[in-house]
Amino acid sequence: MDALLLLLRWMHIFGAVILVGGLCFSRFALIPALADTDDTSRDKIHENIRRRWLPWVIIGITLLLISGLTNFILFNNTVKAQGWSDGQWMKQTSYHTIFGVKFLLALGVFYLASGLFGRGSGTAWIRGDRMRWLGVTLGLAVAVIMLSSWLRNLHMGPNQLSIPDLGVSLSAEPETNDTSEPDRYQNSEAGTAFRQDSDSEAPVESSNTSSPTE
Ligand code: HEM
Repeated sequence: MDALLLLLRWMHIFGAVILVGGLCFSRFALIPALADTDDTSRDKIHENIRRRWLPWVIIGITLLLISGLTNFILFNNTVKAQGWSDGQWMKQTSYHTIFGVKFLLALGVFYLASGLFGRGSGTAWIRGDRMRWLGVTLGLAVAVIMLSSWLRNLHMGPNQLSIPDLGVSLSAEPETNDTSEPDRYQNSEAGTAFRQDSDSEAPVESSNTSSPTE
């Protein structure tokens, strides 16, 4: 199961890097660099790039959809099977609402990215003003990434501030030598502890062996 989750995570991150990386490069380097080129040469270059990049857009979208949907289903099953917060965890955290918004915005990114690098006449309006629609697509992608981090934070907690074993601390708080509390964030089980701690004042004995997805 761990191997599957790792594979899904790789797929999701590679998909996002390919898709968003291409958009960033086009918006901030390619289009400005072609601004002084004459119309005929520019159209030719755009067509050449479009043809070569389209398969990568399709690969990126496919990786994101397969890994994202599988992850979503696996995570929902885990939360349900382990009865997190007496079956109320999804409601308490608004996980499904945040996920729903992320999913809709991601569909917007997929549509615009396909239009920017596709050749259908129905999406010609997107290619008619590349600079503007690249900006909009990137804005949506940034929102998707922020919502994704929020979702992850709901069950994994914030990133750890210190790495006790190495004696490294990123925190402004003074170090204490208190070793009574185990590092809550160093593995997926720690996500469970974080969640339970924030649910109730008193720490709850963990019956969950959470394996959060992604
Ligand atoms: C523009 C498209 C997308 C981008 C840029 C994106 C980005 C991300 C990122 C950066 C993460 C956190 C990954 C990690 O920390 O390992 C994530 C998690 C996730 N994504 Fe996406 N994603 C996109 C589309 C989708 C789609 C289409 C789905 C579902 C169909 C999806 C489902 C998920 C799920 C379930 C998680 C795990 C959230 C959690 O930890 O609870 N994503 N995504």
